[in-house]
Amino acid sequence: MSLSHMAHHFRRGPRVRAVLAAAGTAFFGLAAMPAPAAAVVHGGSVGSCAICHLMHDAATGQIALDGSRPLLAAESSTDLCLTCHGRGNGVFGATPMAPPTEYGAGNFTWLLEDNLNDGAGSAIAGDAAGHCINSPDRGTGADSRWDRAPGGTFPSASLGCTSCHDPHGGGGYRMLHGPGPVQGGLAVFVYPAPVAEGLDITNPGAGESPNRHTAYHAGMSLWCANCHGQYHSEGSGSAFRHPVDDNLEDDVRNRYNRYEGDANPRGGMTATAYIPQVPFEGPATSTTGTDGPVATDRIMCLTCHRAHASSAPAAGRWDFRLVRLVDDGVASGSYPLPSPYPGNGQGQLCKKCHDEGHDEGRACLSCHGATGESPFPMIR
Ligand code: HEC
Ligand code: HEC
Ligand code: HEC
Ligand code: HEC
Ligand code: HEC
Ligand code: HEC
Ligand code: HEC
Repeated sequence: MSLSHMAHHFRRGPRVRAVLAAAGTAFFGLAAMPAPAAAVVHGGSVGSCAICHLMHDAATGQIALDGSRPLLAAESSTDLCLTCHGRGNGVFGATPMAPPTEYGAGNFTWLLEDNLNDGAGSAIAGDAAGHCINSPDRGTGADSRWDRAPGGTFPSASLGCTSCHDPHGGGGYRMLHGPGPVQGGLAVFVYPAPVAEGLDITNPGAGESPNRHTAYHAGMSLWCANCHGQYHSEGSGSAFRHPVDDNLEDDVRNRYNRYEGDANPRGGMTATAYIPQVPFEGPATSTTGTDGPVATDRIMCLTCHRAHASSAPAAGRWDFRLVRLVDDGVASGSYPLPSPYPGNGQGQLCKKCHDEGHDEGRACLSCHGATGESPFPMIR
């Protein structure tokens, strides 16, 4: 069926915005209204188009949705998504000090922070919290520090939800784009969407925990590489060198499985070793699994980063600049990321995989990654 023919069935006017707002409210936990299933919105069914596209009726029966310039029911694609996925229980909470339920990707609310820095040095503004999506509605714009993706060429000024997600579904994990053009050809993705299973985002009681979390199976680092290349590898431009898509060798796996925080660094058990703050990917991971890694499991970008943003610089799953996690949020007044382990002495979660005791009481990055030109001047 042609687009214009489809559209004949779904002429809408200004009412669309109101319908959208009501729909968002129902889906993400602000009011009790019956919620249609995901397939109804993103599944590409005929009736779904008018949820997001204005079927402009200049003259009765004439529709502007001709496939060339789809009119959206909001200022921009990103604002459209945020109508339903914004405040409430969504991916862009209203206030950074009271973030919504964590489902895995982190939250864009931390872009609104005025300072994220709990280490040495001056304030680090919210732009550093992660991907600066352009949302005229929420007042967020392009990152002031990067004009393009570090390690790649994707322009920061165009970054929005549809840079990464296909509004029409597409079949990938969390509707992430696979190979082909994105945003009307602004960039061309080479690598497929990652393989993973996620939590049910419509259930506010089912947020991330050690036995409830994204199960990453394969392909995350390559997917990020669509925009970043193999960042942190030699020649990538990163001051911090680290493997980003490798199997976890024996020594690292043993460490992960034994480490139960600095209070019990060698006495833990494989069956309870998993923490969602330091995930890994592999064919056998599950959303309820609590086991540490096996030989086929790998390190990947989201082992250390959140995909959207976090309350720490560079969308860190924990704050890379601290010696002790208990200091998170103290100097900056920003939201403290919950530590997986108790105790005031708990240090960097790099220790989940590394047993070296040579840090001299300093943050790992004060030696690993520090350069004069680093965008995050390191503690020295
Ligand atoms: C969840 C919201 C949503 C729904 C539902 C939706 N669209 Fe879209 N559509 C968008 C957005 C957002 C864009 C702009 C994409 C971008 O920013 O790159 C778009 C773009 C398009 C384009 C331009 C080409 C492209 O893919 O970028 C066409 C054609 C289109 N939509 C047709 C449809 C049809 C037909 C339906 C119903 C089967 C539909 N859309 C349902 C949000 C939606
Ligand atoms: C009219 C409301 C509405 C709009 C607008 C909307 N969504 Fe959704 N979205 C939903 C609903 C409802 C679900 C289903 C939640 C579920 O059951 O998993 C969903 C699910 C999703 C998911 C998770 C899918 C999964 O596999 O669990 C992603 C990612 C997503 N939307 C992204 C977007 C993006 C990007 C846009 C803008 C282009 C957008 N949405 C616009 C209502 C909306
Ligand atoms: C569509 C392209 C695109 C994809 C895909 C993408 N990024 Fe980015 N990323 C960017 C751009 C552009 C920037 C620089 C602008 C900014 O920080 O908002 C960036 C910045 C970052 C930053 C630095 C944030 C900061 O403010 O310091 C991190 C960390 C990051 N990306 C990690 C990832 C990870 C991990 C993935 C895969 C899950 C990923 N990116 C996928 C485009 C992308
Ligand atoms: C740089 C790429 C990127 C951008 C930009 C991006 N997302 Fe995501 N998003 C992801 C990835 C990757 C995941 C899966 C994360 C995981 O499971 O660890 C995800 C997960 C989600 C989820 C599932 C819930 C969750 O919190 O894990 C929703 C809903 C979603 N995104 C919506 C959006 C919306 C709406 C926007 C724009 C406001 C957006 N995303 C912008 C990459 C992106
Ligand atoms: C072992 C943990 C780890 C892994 C795995 C990892 N990163 Fe990072 N990433 C970091 C740390 C630590 C920083 C902060 C470095 C600094 O400030 O010098 C960082 C910073 C970044 C930045 C911000 C730019 C910069 O140089 O500060 C981007 C972009 C980024 N990472 C992308 C990625 C991508 C893409 C992947 C996967 C290909 C990835 N990272 C995998 C730890 C990691
Ligand atoms: C999921 C486990 C994991 C985490 C978390 C992790 N690493 Fe690693 N790291 C590895 C693996 C695997 C290697 C490869 C060498 C090996 O097998 O020991 C490695 C290697 C290194 C190396 C040697 C690099 C080289 O090129 O020789 C350094 C330094 C390092 N990591 C520092 C860190 C720092 C700092 C952090 C925290 C920001 C961190 N790692 C977090 C798994 C991890
Ligand atoms: C005072 C500076 C300093 C600090 C702080 C520091 N390191 Fe190192 N680290 C070094 C030096 C120097 C080396 C050896 C240099 C080399 O071979 O590249 C090294 C090597 C390593 C290696 C590779 C070991 C090997 O056998 O090849 C790992 C892994 C590592 N560090 C992890 C960490 C972690 C995790 C932290 C934080 C808990 C940390 N380091 C903090 C200076 C430091």
